[in-house]
Amino acid sequence: MSNESLANLLREERRFEPPAELAANANVTAEAYEQARADRLGFWAEQARRLSWSTEPTETLDWSNPPFAKWFQDGRLNVAYNCVDRHVEAGNGDRVAIHFEGEPGDSRTLTYAELQREVSKAANALLELGVRTGDRVAVYMPMIPETVVAMLACARIGAPHSVVFGGFSADALATRINDADARVVITADGGYRKGSASALKPAVDEALTRPGTENVRNVLVVRRTGQDVEWTEGRDVWWHDVVERQSDEHTPEAFDAEHPLFILYTSGTTGKPKGILHTSGGYLTQVAYTHHAVFDLKPETDVFWCSADVGWVTGHSYIVYGPLANGATEVLYEGTPDSPHKGRWWEIIQKYGVTIFYTAPTAIRACMKWGDDIPAEFDLSSLRLLGSVGEPINPEAWVWYREHIGAGSTPVVDTWWQTETGGIMISPLPGVTATKPGSAQVALPGIAATVLDDEAREVPDGSGGYLVLTEPWPSMLRTIWGDDQRFLDTYWSRFEGRYFAGDGAKKDDDGDIWLLGRVDDVMLVSGHNISTTEVESALVSHPSVAEAAVVGATDPQTTQAICAFVILRGSAAETEQDELVTELRNHVAKQLGPIAKPSRILPVAELPKTRSGKIMRRLLRDIAENRELGDVTTLTDSSVMELIQKQLPASG
Ligand code: WT7
Repeated sequence: MSNESLANLLREERRFEPPAELAANANVTAEAYEQARADRLGFWAEQARRLSWSTEPTETLDWSNPPFAKWFQDGRLNVAYNCVDRHVEAGNGDRVAIHFEGEPGDSRTLTYAELQREVSKAANALLELGVRTGDRVAVYMPMIPETVVAMLACARIGAPHSVVFGGFSADALATRINDADARVVITADGGYRKGSASALKPAVDEALTRPGTENVRNVLVVRRTGQDVEWTEGRDVWWHDVVERQSDEHTPEAFDAEHPLFILYTSGTTGKPKGILHTSGGYLTQVAYTHHAVFDLKPETDVFWCSADVGWVTGHSYIVYGPLANGATEVLYEGTPDSPHKGRWWEIIQKYGVTIFYTAPTAIRACMKWGDDIPAEFDLSSLRLLGSVGEPINPEAWVWYREHIGAGSTPVVDTWWQTETGGIMISPLPGVTATKPGSAQVALPGIAATVLDDEAREVPDGSGGYLVLTEPWPSMLRTIWGDDQRFLDTYWSRFEGRYFAGDGAKKDDDGDIWLLGRVDDVMLVSGHNISTTEVESALVSHPSVAEAAVVGATDPQTTQAICAFVILRGSAAETEQDELVTELRNHVAKQLGPIAKPSRILPVAELPKTRSGKIMRRLLRDIAENRELGDVTTLTDSSVMELIQKQLPASG
């Protein structure tokens, strides 16, 4: 990181104190940091008591064979019982667990008592289909209540699920079924997305023709859209035939705390997908605690909404396990934010009186681009807390989120974590932390994170390097499914004894952590490390820019040259572009220092993104370096690349 650009970024001086009322009633206060610092394991042992154990653990952490951790290992529990039954037993059976909103406008409400009956029936159905403890079940579903029910039913009988995002292709599904050696696939005929019925079952049929998927005995199919499906007799069974006729009672069995709960494949940009393995007791402890602490959840009064897809870890931890373990009332929405109109999300917040909303920067920037007047049409006054996750949030997007969604008064918590960490690791606490736009700031109580330089030395405040986690945490991945060596190589070999997250980060003068994106997204320009995130944030801070993606293109003089792709806002798209490009280059130079001035800025209509919303910089680099495009199959929309290429000036 060049000193100039660092100094400039640290000029972000806006600070937002927690609202007095929230601070006064916050679930977690500053004392939690003290308590966890004094006795980290004691702190986590206390958090584990949020759960109902059939055998209470006496041992908190076994770290005798690092980095293979065992948390609460002599404890036994049932995860689904913790997420459902115990709330009914506590007299909260009538509380709404899920307000489901389908994209076409259909809706359904499930109380905890109803959820208990549905999960019990589904568990009985899986048992009838021969699923046994330890068998893997693949889940390839739209965002509907049956998806949550299916995951909980698997947890209930101790069958680890492997949820595969419904937007993935038959190939991606087959690879994952094969790697986990799944025995059953749970799917639907289709789901509603972008205003129409989008089929899922054909991808399952195709996946199951691929080698390595022969062990799949049954495909359990939910009817959602009513579209035609091919049927393989003996293998395919309808959910409404098999699940509906089951008893709605099922006695949950307790499993070891380290019993596998799920495998989730990471959206790696290179190489074979990694099956991240999470287990039961430690995972549930941390997702329940972080949901309580970071979102300040009051289960009697709050309405929580996490807009992620259950196909990502955010959906696992903050739609399914965290909120339900805490007895929350939550919204589950099937579709996209702009179907049938660009105010759909805000309409849902108004309809259900959502109080806590958790989404991703890419969505916030899209809403910014659509215009301030859209959220202004809705009553968003129920909101009291906003969260962000998935990538660094540019300060301008952060401020827009607070101003236009949060009425200028709602705290924004920027939460850093990964599929591998299972739960939130670095985030402000809404009742404690004075927030800074663009920074995830501090490790949560009980979590140890720092920033190291190339030589594994902790960097001083005001410097950048690599983010590492220095102590094990309860919801840490236990391994990569079937590949302990890759687990060691990927996360534990870069810095001896510490978990390397793969992210660049820096500490500001207050010691707060700023995430700078994946380390492979750091550019080397004339001997200076410059993060793509910082240049993107500088561009987005200009009123004419809605979104920006920056890549380093090989350059004979400067090693790499900064090349920026920008989406212009509304009327800026029609103005004289040469002049604007010059203005934007100067704007970045002024914000970050002349070294960070992009050598090229290309206005485009769209940016290539993966289905989880991450910009595919690899493809932009191909363009910036005038190469043939690499693999585009994981893009949400592969025509985006053609569009960009058409818009570019003929020369490179
Ligand atoms: C990577 C993990 C965690 C659920 C969604 C993504 C980036 C995530 C932030 C944040 C900056 C962030 C990191 C991380 N990331 N949250 N608040 N600020 N970067 O899960 O697909 O496993 O991706 O997402 O680069 O390593 P994932």
